[in-house]
Order: sequence, then C-alpha cells, then structure tokens
Amino acid sequence: MGSPRWKRLCLLVLLGLAFSLLFYGHYYGAESPTSPRRPQQETLQLPQAELPQDTRSHHLVGESASKRGNQTKDSSKEESAYHHKEKSSLCPRSLKSKVKNDPTFGKQFDFDGPVLMWNRHFTSEMWKKLKERGVPYGWRGLPQAVISSTLELLKNAANSRLFNETTSPDGCVRCAVVGNGGILNGSHQGKEIDAHDFVFRLNGAVIKGFEADVGTKTSFYGFTVNTMKNSLIAYAEYGFTQIPQAKDIRYIFIPSDKRDYLMLKSALLGIPVPEGYDKGDKPQKYFGSNTSAEKFKLLHPEFMYYLTERFLKSEIINSQFGHLYMPSTGAIMLLTALHTCDQVSAFGFITDNYRTFSDHYYELEKKPLVFYANHDMLLEAELWKKLHQAGIMKLYQR
Ligand SMILES: *[C@@H]1O[C@H](CO)[C@@H](O)[C@H](O)[C@H]1NC(C)=O
Ligand SMILES: *[C@@H]1O[C@H](CO)[C@@H](O)[C@H](O)[C@H]1NC(C)=O
Ligand SMILES: *[C@@H]1O[C@H](CO)[C@@H](O)[C@H](O)[C@H]1NC(C)=O
Ligand SMILES: *[C@@H]1O[C@H](CO)[C@@H](O)[C@H](O)[C@H]1NC(C)=O
Repeated sequence: MGSPRWKRLCLLVLLGLAFSLLFYGHYYGAESPTSPRRPQQETLQLPQAELPQDTRSHHLVGESASKRGNQTKDSSKEESAYHHKEKSSLCPRSLKSKVKNDPTFGKQFDFDGPVLMWNRHFTSEMWKKLKERGVPYGWRGLPQAVISSTLELLKNAANSRLFNETTSPDGCVRCAVVGNGGILNGSHQGKEIDAHDFVFRLNGAVIKGFEADVGTKTSFYGFTVNTMKNSLIAYAEYGFTQIPQAKDIRYIFIPSDKRDYLMLKSALLGIPVPEGYDKGDKPQKYFGSNTSAEKFKLLHPEFMYYLTERFLKSEIINSQFGHLYMPSTGAIMLLTALHTCDQVSAFGFITDNYRTFSDHYYELEKKPLVFYANHDMLLEAELWKKLHQAGIMKLYQR
C-alpha cells in the first residue's frame, strides 16, 4: 500500500516481533527452573498443538460490522437477562450523555449490548453463532462441553453485571482503571485513584511500595490466564508474587483461549484444572479460597468482538500477524469500564509522550515501552486521547 501509516505499522509489527524474540531468548537464557514454558509476553500464545491454525485466526476481516445484540436479542426470550441493567443511570453527569452528544463516539458506542456472559446467554442460537468465530470473539474449535459446563456455573445474578446499583449519594458510579504504565512512577495519584467507587487493575499490578502512586484499592482484576501467569513470572522481581486477593475483589476473565474457560470453571468448582495447558493448577493459588460464583465475571465474546470492531480495528488485522491481534488487557478493561461506569478515569495508560516514561511504573531503571506484534498500542493511544478530548473519560497525563 505504501502509505506512511502502513509502513509504520509494518515496522511496528516487525519491531514487536523482534522484541518478543529478544525477550524470548533472554527469558530462556535466564535460569528459572520453576517457570512454565512461556516467555513474558502479552500475546495470545495459543498452544499450537491444542488448536489448529484456523481456530486461532479471529477473522474480523470480512465480517460485517457487528450489530451488537441484534441477532442474539431476537433469539433470546430472556431479553432482560441479555441486557444488563446498570444502564438507566440516575447520574446527571454520566459519560453516556457525553457520548450521545458526540458526533463520532455517538455512533461508535452501543450501551445496550452485553458486557458479561452468564449462563442465560448460553442458548443454542448463541452456540451456533459463536462457534463460527475464533477466540476471543467466539468459540470456534472449543469443545461445546467445556463452554457449556463453564457457563452453567455462572448462574448468579452477580455474574450478569459488574456491580450492583450505585450507593453513591449522587447516583454516579465513578471508576478508575489503572494500567501499569511508567507514567505513574512518582505520580502521587494513589489517593485520587482510591477515591473512586471501583478500581480496575490488571496483569502485573504491583501495589506494595507504590501505594502513593497507584493506591491500594482493587475492586476488579482483569486478565487472561496467559497474561496473569506471565505477569507472575515476569514481575516477580518487582514484588508481583500474587494476584490481588481480598473479600471484595472480583475477577474479570477475558475469554481469549480454552485455558480461560477451563480455569474459570475450576475456580468456580474449587478444583485443580483438569486438563490442558494449566492442568493441575489450583485456582485458589491465584484467586484465594473463596470460590463463590459472585467473585468471577466473564467478558462476553460478543463484547470482545464489538469493542475490537468499533474501537480498535487495527491494520494489523490485515497483516500476516492478524491472527495474533487483540486489544491489550488494559484496553479491554478500560472499554469495559466505559460501558458500565458513569465516570471513568484512566491512569497508567499510554499517552503521546510515552517515550518520557519507563514501560512500567515499578521498573528500577527506565525501560522503553515494548511494542508487541499482537497489540496496536499507538492506535490505543489515539483512542484514549480522543476520548479524553471529547470529555468522555479523563486520561491521566503529565
Ligand atoms: C438486525 O439484523 C437483521 C438481520 O439479521 C437486520 O435485517 C436488521 O436490520 C438488524 N436490526 C438492527 C436494529 O440492527
Ligand atoms: C442488587 O440488585 C438487586 C436487583 O437489581 C437487588 O435485589 C439487591 O437488593 C441489590 N443489592 C445488593 C446488595 O445485592
Ligand atoms: C465470598 O465472596 C463473596 C463475594 O465477595 C462474599 O459475599 C462471601 O461472604 C465470601 N465468603 C466467604 C466465606 O468469605
Ligand atoms: C521513578 O521515579 C524516580 C523518582 O522520581 C526516579 O528516580 C526513577 O528513575 C524513576 N524510575 C524509572 C524507571 O523511571
């Protein structure tokens, strides 16, 4: 194509690959007898042996823009179960009104579709539809038994929504989403972050020693099993030795692989993972001893599809690495918050001046931000900037 943007992207992808390979080499060079076979890397990394190549490609390309909820809604008798109900907010300054009045974002956002998946969504129509699409947008190549036995355990009303109606006096649910970007080092945003009703964190969310900058409160922890386990390995040296655990923490599973369904099911049952890549893993090690269904949330593959189509449809999708692409964990959490909360502030997310900062806030020496081939961080940066400029969310910048 020859356009500068295209060239930049190619470069990016190649750079990302190079970095991944470098890290791979570095990682395997390092002594680490207990570590599993994965390098730290936020890639999908589907075990090739487990899934044939074609199930790994997401095939966003060529599918028509998603009409979120449409098809499924028609086929679902449980309309109220499908739509989540936090929508009719009493908050006078909800981001929804800002979105509605914005010429661009008004067309992109659809607040009526599902964000989370729970057992009532698992209809034969849903199966038929999602088995045509690869992860994380569907279930192609995944055994129906794994999907159905997992989803049937998500039968608590708490599995259908992130949180209950607000108890805030003004009726506004205020959320902070905390990425792990170096911009937070020395930011003193801890108090500000903790002042929100709900705080979302993800992956290698180191807190100890950084309370003043990132706060201490955690309401939601978002991850894929792959990114979670990689974070425990890669950031152990910075003190990330355990997934945040507390009575009030809820875990948001991103359905990026069969592994996520198997781990979720095992967590809900309180048993070791019975098969596959994580066989034998005890979910309690990650999520604590409370296996109550309320603790666990699963993002809807339709939501994954919608947010990628509408907000982060990267040119990488059309490249040879298209099958690896998906939005970053941070992006998925931030978009989740934007579709459920009334007010959203993003901390530790990529900004224009990202080169000024280290990759993560907890590194002791400055490291450049790593661009992996499977994410489009510059596209994400553009989105956050535009959402900030439109007044839809507040992006922490310095
Ligand atoms: C819903 O989908 C049908 C086809 O599946 C289409 O004809 C209709 O226009 C869609 N409606 C909306 C509101 O998107
Ligand atoms: C949560 O919401 C449900 C219905 O929306 C309601 O019955 C319940 O009392 C609310 N509060 C709590 C703490 O569950
Ligand atoms: C388990 O977690 C749920 C949800 O946070 C909570 O309501 C329940 O009290 C917890 N149970 C125990 C035994 O801590
Ligand atoms: C974090 O901030 C401190 C003090 O502001 C600085 O000395 C240190 O170099 C920073 N760390 C990184 C990785 O940039």
